[in-house]
Amino acid sequence: MADRFTVLRTNAELRARIAELAAEISRDYENCVTEEHPLLLLCTLRGAVFFAADLARCLTVPAELNFIKVHTYVGKESKLKPEFELGKDIPVKGQRVLILEDIVDTGRTMDCVVRHYYESGADSVEICTMLDKTHARAKGYEKVVPKYAGFEIENEFVVGFGLDCDEKFRLLPDVCVYHSDSEQS
Ligand code: IMP
Ligand code: MG
Repeated sequence: MADRFTVLRTNAELRARIAELAAEISRDYENCVTEEHPLLLLCTLRGAVFFAADLARCLTVPAELNFIKVHTYVGKESKLKPEFELGKDIPVKGQRVLILEDIVDTGRTMDCVVRHYYESGADSVEICTMLDKTHARAKGYEKVVPKYAGFEIENEFVVGFGLDCDEKFRLLPDVCVYHSDSEQS
């Protein structure tokens, strides 16, 4: 059988970039978060869990970590209306919120999440994503632009470093383009 995975970003590349992002975020929030009012990191389950764990531990500003889950995908198809499964009621009033996302694709999930936490009274809500499929935004979601992005990638389906395909391949250390059996000749 031909290779089913093509490595796009190695684990070492991902971790190096995560350290850079953490340094940038720490600089940006240095003067606006304190131990009393820490940066609230909201990690999207389950895809962003390794990204968030690595990034959160590199930050040098006071931060708290919590988890949200928004259902958007079944296999390779994006569900049109994202729905919160976890974290909708997290109190964010007056807080600086940073969403830690694995990948922004059509933009629907992050649009819904950012709107929700603004409506819940957050002072600011920004997106930090490991990967950004910048050319995959759905019509009407072009304005979903993460403030922090690890890597821009083409519109290809990727797995590994937390990203799955129907719950498989999450634990691969690298981010790989996944070629399913049906795509192979
Ligand atoms: P969006 O709402 O279309 O931007 O979808 C975002 C969510 O879809 C991400 O958080 C992922 O869970 C999932 N997703 C999008 N593209 C991929 C991919 O290439 N591999 C795995 N999951 C993906
Ligand atoms: Mg996700």
